[in-house]
Amino acid sequence: MAEERTYPPSPEFVKHAHVKGMEGYRALYKRAEEHPGEFWSELADKELFWFEKWSKPFEWNPPFVKWFVGGKTNVSYNCIDRHLTTARKNKVAILWEGEPGDQRMISYQELHRLVSRFANVLKSRGLKAGDRAIIYMPMIPELPVAMLACTRLGIIHSVVFGGFSAEALKARIQDLEAQVVITADGGWRRGKEVRLKPAVDDALADCPTVLDVIVYRRTGGAVEMKPGRDRWWHDLDEKTAETCDAEPMDSEAPLYVLYTSGTTGKPKGIVHSSGGYLLQAHMTMKWVFDLHEEDTYWCTADIGWVTGHSYIVYGPLSVGATTVMYEGAPDCPQPDRFWRLIEKYRVSIFYTSPTAIRAFVRQGDQWPNAHDLSSLRLLGSVGEPINPAAWEWYHKTIGKERCPIVDTWWQTETGAIMISPLPGAVPTKPGSATLPLPGVLPDVVDLNGKPVELNHEGFLIIRRPWPSMLRTIWRDPKRYEEQYWKRIPGNYLTGDAARCDSDGYFCILGRVDDVMNVSGHRLSTMELESALVRHPAVAEAAVVGKPHEITGQSVACFVTLKQGNWDHEQLAQDLRQWVAHEIGAFAKPEQIRFTDALPKTRSGKIMRRLLREIVTSNTVAGDVTTLEDLSVVTRLAAQTEEE
Ligand code: WTA
Repeated sequence: MAEERTYPPSPEFVKHAHVKGMEGYRALYKRAEEHPGEFWSELADKELFWFEKWSKPFEWNPPFVKWFVGGKTNVSYNCIDRHLTTARKNKVAILWEGEPGDQRMISYQELHRLVSRFANVLKSRGLKAGDRAIIYMPMIPELPVAMLACTRLGIIHSVVFGGFSAEALKARIQDLEAQVVITADGGWRRGKEVRLKPAVDDALADCPTVLDVIVYRRTGGAVEMKPGRDRWWHDLDEKTAETCDAEPMDSEAPLYVLYTSGTTGKPKGIVHSSGGYLLQAHMTMKWVFDLHEEDTYWCTADIGWVTGHSYIVYGPLSVGATTVMYEGAPDCPQPDRFWRLIEKYRVSIFYTSPTAIRAFVRQGDQWPNAHDLSSLRLLGSVGEPINPAAWEWYHKTIGKERCPIVDTWWQTETGAIMISPLPGAVPTKPGSATLPLPGVLPDVVDLNGKPVELNHEGFLIIRRPWPSMLRTIWRDPKRYEEQYWKRIPGNYLTGDAARCDSDGYFCILGRVDDVMNVSGHRLSTMELESALVRHPAVAEAAVVGKPHEITGQSVACFVTLKQGNWDHEQLAQDLRQWVAHEIGAFAKPEQIRFTDALPKTRSGKIMRRLLREIVTSNTVAGDVTTLEDLSVVTRLAAQTEEE
């Protein structure tokens, strides 16, 4: 997939970069590899604030790791308070625009006030360190405010993407045994109100641990408030004090739990730590995004996914950046909304997904060309493999051949970017995530853990623990161990296929497990299958990813039905709705095929590999390179299946 053409950074870019040239990169990488404890300790000391220093840089008892053992810090303090004694105090921290065009520019000082007040609100409801809060909100500033208020007190938060349905929300609340839900009446998307509170009400019918619901008024839509349980954010906020000390938290105290799809029907609660997580989110802002004081930085992800956690909230605020946040859809009111925002706010660093880029390509160059994009100096991509054609378009049409592109590979589990060019150092190749970051030791191996030859596909693993890695799966350490560390003992198994070329560059090919990637959103085939078989008409279901020109993959379902006279067309509609109800509208299948039987192994396992081939070879039109890669993934997936 990756091309051989390389794009070195321009001399001007290198001159101002935090890490200059390949020598700069190699020196950092070598030191991190040879002396990891010292390397990370020095950075933790220099870059973060600690109430108490640690006694040991790290402790590795596979598969469990601790970083900065015994150290005490606070993530909210690092993201806000420490900037207040500097010139950043009146700098814009969050630069927000709502979909209807309303704007807010929140300085670090103002953010401090908002977060302290809301932390006091949480305290007044009796919440304390170790308690759990579910946050189910639209992309408005109160979402990071709620996150930072939790981390200020050591309350573990779990943000649930606003696109998830009541059923999906319920499953997360129950697994986390949350005490509080923080939500809003709704948000704006494509000119319509997306209501959130009704989903919370439905979910809570079955969640006895939740005693409090705090509702922010965003849209002004009608909301039912349950007496004794539900309270308006503004009512509580009115009566509260302006200051609230940040709690010194253990470096290893869980910061948040973020649910992501795994290879079973049940989502995994990925647990992240405080000190190690923040350090790597912070360092990657400097290394990968080359963040400087004067930058205006915009990551277009939703905070409901890990990209938003690390690269809209924690990373950018920790380094004292101005982080742009936009509430709505990229094509509202017209397909140029993103370019309009870049021009208006003079955005200098822009980070988005390949799916978005491919959609822009399709809409046509007239939209970006109508805007002044000269403020841009660096572009980023995340969430899925970027095909060289989309990369080239991004480079030419958006970056005007001036801006380096950082293709950043990482996962919910890794917490921070793992493989990516450092823009002032590493020459890029379209379609390649290039080289590992300092402290990251990846390899491409076969199922026995033996490194494969150069340019051969294999399983991507990480050989050593890193500060921002997941600590466990919420209340399921066994699944954590089995899922990530048992297959290739002592190594972290990513679930991705990759290939390494003679320059040591990594090209990530896609998932080899039963996880799909639709528009950069992770979906589990098992989760979709369990949702489908809960429908009264369905006997069995098998779900596979089908290559899709824009979204990378789309959801294809094979369904066998129970006895009855079914109207297939109507039922296909019903099942799409059913999936929206069980998981969320973003997971709706594109294709549903009814069949008499599903292909199975002798032991009764559905052979998804065959189904993948069926949906793939039926759609030969389109990008041939993508198809080739998919067959690679299919072969690797077949290996794991047969094992
Ligand atoms: C995929 C998102 C190719 C990969 C940060 C990974 C990528 C999954 C890239 C994690 C990239 C992410 N190139 N593939 N630059 N970045 N992926 O947990 O399959 O939502 O395993 O984290 O996205 O998705 P997640």
